[in-house]
Amino acid sequence: MEAKSPDLMEKLVSLCKRRGFIFQSSEIYGGLASCWDYGPLGVELKNNLQRAWWTEMTRRHENIVGLDASILMRPEVWRASGHVDGFVDPLVDCKECRSRFRADQIDATKPCPNCSGELTEPRQFNLMFRTHLGPLEDTASQIYIRPETAQGIYVDYLLVQNSARLQVPFGIAQVGKAFRNEIKPGNFIFRTCEFEQMEMQFFVKPGTDDEWMGHWKEKRMDYYRRMGIRPENLRFHQHGPGELAHYAREAWDVEYQFPFGWQEVEGIHNRTDFDLKAHQGLSGKKMDYIDSGKGERYLPFIIETSSGLNRTLLMFLCDAYREDVVDEEPRVLLALPPKVAPITFAVLPLVKKDGVGDLARQLFEDLSGRWNGFYDHAGAIGRRYRRMDEVGTPWCITVDYESKEQGTVTIRHRDDCRQERVKMDQLKSWIFERMEG
Ligand code: GAP
Repeated sequence: MEAKSPDLMEKLVSLCKRRGFIFQSSEIYGGLASCWDYGPLGVELKNNLQRAWWTEMTRRHENIVGLDASILMRPEVWRASGHVDGFVDPLVDCKECRSRFRADQIDATKPCPNCSGELTEPRQFNLMFRTHLGPLEDTASQIYIRPETAQGIYVDYLLVQNSARLQVPFGIAQVGKAFRNEIKPGNFIFRTCEFEQMEMQFFVKPGTDDEWMGHWKEKRMDYYRRMGIRPENLRFHQHGPGELAHYAREAWDVEYQFPFGWQEVEGIHNRTDFDLKAHQGLSGKKMDYIDSGKGERYLPFIIETSSGLNRTLLMFLCDAYREDVVDEEPRVLLALPPKVAPITFAVLPLVKKDGVGDLARQLFEDLSGRWNGFYDHAGAIGRRYRRMDEVGTPWCITVDYESKEQGTVTIRHRDDCRQERVKMDQLKSWIFERMEG
C-alpha cells in the first residue's frame, strides 16, 4: 500500500487505536477535538524518534547543546517576537452551516464549499492560547502558552553560550510542547492544538547565513533519507513572498507525501537577527555575541530547523504501512526502521514444557532493559508473528528444543520472513550491531 493511498489514514487510525499507539483524548466523554493520547506503543515510538533526533542534532555535533526552557514565559517575549501582532490566521465562517475555514485555504470570495451559503468577511484570529498566572484573572496576569519552542532559546542564548563556552557558529537544541489554537486542526495527529516540536537554532556570523542555510537544508533532508523514509515521498518546498512567516527571510519546508497530499514536516528558516534584535529592543538588554579573539561584537543570524515530533511519527507510520500475503494469508506490517520500532525484539517459545519456556523467559530478561522487548507464549506461532508484524517488531526470536541442546535460537525477520539460526550467547551483539551500528 502506497503512503499516498487515500484509505491509508482510516486503516492507520484504526490500527493505532487497536494496538495501543494512539487514542482519542477524553474518549469516555466523547473525545476532545484534535487532542490525542499516546498509548504504550505510541509513547515508545515517539520516544525513539525524539532520541534519534536528539542524537543526530546534539551528540553528533560538538558545537550544539541542549536546553529545556519553560513553556510559560513573560508576555513581553511574545510581544517582541511579533506573535502578539503577527501570529494570526484569517478566519471566515459560513452564515448558513456554521462551518469555519482559514480564508487563505479556500477561495473566500466564493460561497461556502460545504453548503454554498454566504461566508463572513475574513477576521484575523490570533493562534496563541492565553491563560493567567496567579489567582487574579486580570490583564496584568495574562500570559501566553508558547506557540513555538524557539523563543526560549533566543532569550537564553547568551546564558547558554557563556556557560557552555561556545563560539559562533554554534547551536542550541530543544524538544518540547507547543500550543496553537488552530482554526482547522485535523488529519489525525497531523495538525493539532497541542504538539511537540524538535527545534535547533544555529547562531552564525551575519554574511555566512546563506551558506549555513544550504548546509542545514542538505543535512536535514539527508537525515530523513538515512532514517529510511522513501526518497520519492520527500521533497523541498520553498516559501514564496506571500507564505513567509513574519520572522523569516528565507524558508524551505521538508515535505512528505501524506495520503492527504504533500505537507510540511519540518521548516528550515533563515530568521536573520530578527528575534534577537527584537528582544534587545524591548528588554533593553544587550544581546550581542562578543568574539574577544577577533575583537568583534555582533548580533548573530539564526538558521532554524524546526520539526514536529507528532508529524514525524505520522510520516513514519504512513511510510511503513504495508499489506502483503504470506503463506496464502494476508498480513499487515509496519516496516519501521529497527531503531524507531516500539518493540525491538519478541521472544516466542515454541513450547512451554521441558524447560523451553523457562529458557525463553531467561533470554527475554537478559535482552530487556537496553531495548524494549516483548514475551509472548500464547497461540500458534504464525499468529504470534502476525501480531508482531502489525506493530513493526523487526525481529522475532523463537526458542525451541534445539535451543536447549545446541544453544541456538531462530531469528525471523519481519519484512521478508527470512529465518536464521544464531547462537544465544551472540544474540546481544547481533542486536547491538543492528541497533547501534
Ligand atoms: N519555530 C518555527 C516554527 O514553529 P512552524 O513551521 O510554524 O515553525 C514547525 O512549525 C513545525 O512544527 C512544523 O513543520 C510542524 O512539523 C510542526 N507543527 C506546527 N504546527 C503544528 C500543529 N498545529 N500540529 C502539529 N505539528 C505542528
